[in-house]
Amino acid sequence: MNTQNKYWELHTSCLVADKVLPFDIYIWLQGKPILWRGKSTELLQKDIGRLIESGVNRVAISIRDKEKYLEYLEPITQKLILDDKVPPEYKAYIVRESTSKVLSKLFKEPTNARTAKRLESLVFPIIDLLMSGSSMAPLKFLIGSGRMAFSYAPHGARTCYYTIAFARSYANYFTEDKIRQLAMGALLHDVGQMLVKPAIREKKGKFTDKERSEMEKHPVHSVNIIKRGNIFVCNEATMVAVKSHHELGDKSGYPLGLPLFELPLEANILAIAHTFESYTVQRVHRNAAKSYDVIKYLLDNPGKYHPKFVKRFVKVLAELEVYSS
Ligand SMILES: [Fe+2]
Ligand SMILES: [Fe+2]
Repeated sequence: MNTQNKYWELHTSCLVADKVLPFDIYIWLQGKPILWRGKSTELLQKDIGRLIESGVNRVAISIRDKEKYLEYLEPITQKLILDDKVPPEYKAYIVRESTSKVLSKLFKEPTNARTAKRLESLVFPIIDLLMSGSSMAPLKFLIGSGRMAFSYAPHGARTCYYTIAFARSYANYFTEDKIRQLAMGALLHDVGQMLVKPAIREKKGKFTDKERSEMEKHPVHSVNIIKRGNIFVCNEATMVAVKSHHELGDKSGYPLGLPLFELPLEANILAIAHTFESYTVQRVHRNAAKSYDVIKYLLDNPGKYHPKFVKRFVKVLAELEVYSS
């Protein structure tokens, strides 16, 4: 996928037939982009078929049209993910970009029911795919692709992927529906941050006591937002997990200072997946830590994180091959 210059390269399987194009499509001839189908024309299945028959399996769009492309692709995201012809790295890229884009919109307007519905319809098939079969490959690509500096939407998405991988290892405990709910909770665990004043949320220095107390309300805000937008049908254990994602076993966490060990498995899973994701990503106040160092931190703090759960998580990370990265 060429994302470096002015054009973004696409696999031909990622074109939607019988739909009016919201952007121009180019093909490459002798190293140059040639306009193939213009904006506002209807792209027919036979056009795509002819392209593939003539051996063209890549087209390109202007990088400026990337947002429009991701929106155009939403209805076929599930089909694309199941298509063997589409390279796995490309699937991971599309899933990650689409989820982050819609999630970012929701983070800007947490009470917008239309965006919430769009997120749900986009994310549920992805979650289903990640849970289906025994292969960790789709999760591996998603987690391994595009580690970036911190922002809330990608943080929610990546916490969600780790949570799914972790929860899948408790197949005897979780039904698929429970994992789906927990995954949605993980995706939205920090949506309550949007109700904290930006001056506090984005502060680089130390918090005052008042600011800290405001910041520490965000897990409760997240639960309230998820409950209010009742399309996110999350069970009680998932709500406890969202509310407890900053709790620690030694009662030094927040908002309630609860011992995590007394909380449901969902809460322990989300807390560990969340800590791992948070520390392995670059933040304004610190550098990204290596996976190995974060695991060591989790294991070295058995009072905060139950070793039984951490050891299971290490096994999951080994399967995902991110343990030593
Ligand atoms: Fe978080
Ligand atoms: Fe949080």
